[in-house]
Amino acid sequence: MSDKSSNQMWGGRFAAGPDSIMEAINASIGFDKRMAAQDIAGSRAHAAMLAAQGIVTPSDAEAMREGLLTVLSEIETGEFTFSTELEDIHMNVEARLKEVIGEPAGRLHTGRSRNDQVATDFRLWVRDQLDAASSGLTALIRALLTQAEAGADWVMPGFTHLQTAQPVTWGHHTMAYVEMFARDLSRVEDARKRMNESPLGAAALAGTSFPIDREMTAEALGFDRPMANSLDAVSDRDFALEFLGAASISAMHLSRMAEELVIWSSAQFRFVTLSDRFSTGSSIMPQKKNPDAAELIRAKIGRIFGAQVALMMVMKGLPLAYSKDMQEDKEQVFDAADNWILALAAMEGMVKDMTANSENLEAAASAGFSTATDLADWLVRTLDLPFRDAHHVTGSLVALAEEKKCDLPDLSLEDMQTVHAEITEDVFEVLGVHNSVASRTSYGGTAPQCVREQVARWKKVIG
Ligand code: ARG
Repeated sequence: MSDKSSNQMWGGRFAAGPDSIMEAINASIGFDKRMAAQDIAGSRAHAAMLAAQGIVTPSDAEAMREGLLTVLSEIETGEFTFSTELEDIHMNVEARLKEVIGEPAGRLHTGRSRNDQVATDFRLWVRDQLDAASSGLTALIRALLTQAEAGADWVMPGFTHLQTAQPVTWGHHTMAYVEMFARDLSRVEDARKRMNESPLGAAALAGTSFPIDREMTAEALGFDRPMANSLDAVSDRDFALEFLGAASISAMHLSRMAEELVIWSSAQFRFVTLSDRFSTGSSIMPQKKNPDAAELIRAKIGRIFGAQVALMMVMKGLPLAYSKDMQEDKEQVFDAADNWILALAAMEGMVKDMTANSENLEAAASAGFSTATDLADWLVRTLDLPFRDAHHVTGSLVALAEEKKCDLPDLSLEDMQTVHAEITEDVFEVLGVHNSVASRTSYGGTAPQCVREQVARWKKVIG
């Protein structure tokens, strides 16, 4: 017999238990207990299949399935005592099952290994997170659509280089984010389709000689099919990397939007007012209302992208099939998932609650010679100037307005005619910001009419 302190799962080959430092570096229970529900779902599906295939008796399988539910409820109510000695969630659950149902618990691990077990649990966990991200993205898109619809014809400055470029509509700017988050959503849906295959039954790496039915367990766990290669099934973590990839791109979008909210809510811009519910005050400066949620969202890309890089580094160079390195996959993904989903919810809350200050937006849209391109286009259309010449004439008019410390529409016709004699009164029509945005009706353009069409299209898609 082996030493008493050696492991109860593999004690047969061992004379002594692990050093405490070995236990500390080896154990994953501190974090993989988050997969308890998935682990138990996987084991219940496996037990039912073992009975259906005549590998264990129906009464043993029933005892396992019932016992597993007892263990799950102990975990959910917090009665369960997790043990580091038992290393991970798989062995913690199995050891407790043995205490609850006795001998049949020892038959549960027939025809499987912790390698396919952990791959199955983790896939199920990541799949749940993809679904949560899908809901978060959909809710955020809905909040943006509401903002876009309300402000389809509010004008604001459109920027390049953060310098005023041309007037755009609030609705159009908001809808740009709808496009981004909708792409994130399609990445999530796409990743889910690809990852939805079951590793269970790949066993340690080579499959098993027991007559298992992998289709049955795959179906019971909501997978589309079993994975076709047992080596790949236990050693693949692409699904986690794709999750992190989708999360990284989405977090980058969130971060860009958060940056705009930080700028827009500043005293210098006053484009939006964030609600009290999504702002904080200062402990020393009584007047302050800070956009902390936006700042934190802006920062979260760092840890999410970091998680992707970390897992890529774990996986690169690993020989087939399972290596313990892969235990390092979970904390990264857990952290990224928590923060992505939290950031989506915080952004949704901010967008729902914020007020766009349409008067400030319009005043800013009119400043900075934002309709200079409209003026140049008018010179081309009406006076048949080549665009390059029109650009030059407009440049001179801008310089004149600057000299007079006024905006383009404030110049008199006589002033304008000193730059180009053929300019007529009609020009003033294109210098107004509302006319400017209304004229940009090319597909994908900023005109209120285009924005309304896009809002209607996305409402149909998102439901
Ligand atoms: N705790 C392990 C993990 O997270 C489970 C698989 C262990 N398999 C093994 N052969 N040691 O990856």
